[in-house]
Amino acid sequence: MKKTDVRSDQEMSSEEDTPSSSPPPSSSPAPASHLIGSKEDIVKAGRLIKTVNGCREILVLYHQGTLHAMDMRCYHAGGPLQHGDIEEFNGRLCIVCPWHKYKITLAEGEGLYQAVDDPTVKPLRTHWRSKGVKQRIHKVTEVKGSVYVTLNDCSEAIESDVYQTERYRTGSIQAQTKPKP
Ligand code: FES
Repeated sequence: MKKTDVRSDQEMSSEEDTPSSSPPPSSSPAPASHLIGSKEDIVKAGRLIKTVNGCREILVLYHQGTLHAMDMRCYHAGGPLQHGDIEEFNGRLCIVCPWHKYKITLAEGEGLYQAVDDPTVKPLRTHWRSKGVKQRIHKVTEVKGSVYVTLNDCSEAIESDVYQTERYRTGSIQAQTKPKP
């Protein structure tokens, strides 16, 4: 898979991550949407990460003509999905986490895995199965060349939420800045 640059919101532009101060007069984005940047820039970069609402790290990526948005940290152990390859498994496009290779569908955030039908039967026969939705996927809209994300506010907990908490982020930043022994 072709690797693409990952750009952070600081690199992208100085635009606010709140709805544009002067949204287009018609076909405006929904009030709860957050401006991510211009589609042109996102297509060029391939992927970018943006902190939305001052607290949620979102990965926005462009693949095969479609924009996707999801929590940036992998539901398994917080791996940086912006560095994951995109591959198709069982006909479904997935991002493969660079840390432990978990596969997450781009469209739904489902965790996919290969299950063995019957371990006593050789050769082993495997099938792709879903663990259900594990990664929070967010809605992306494009209005007149600008891309907006509306956070998925489904109240049901999704595993990737754990890595979006203040507690996780503080701990993660402290670990990164700790002097090496
Ligand atoms: S952190 Fe993503 S697979 Fe383990």
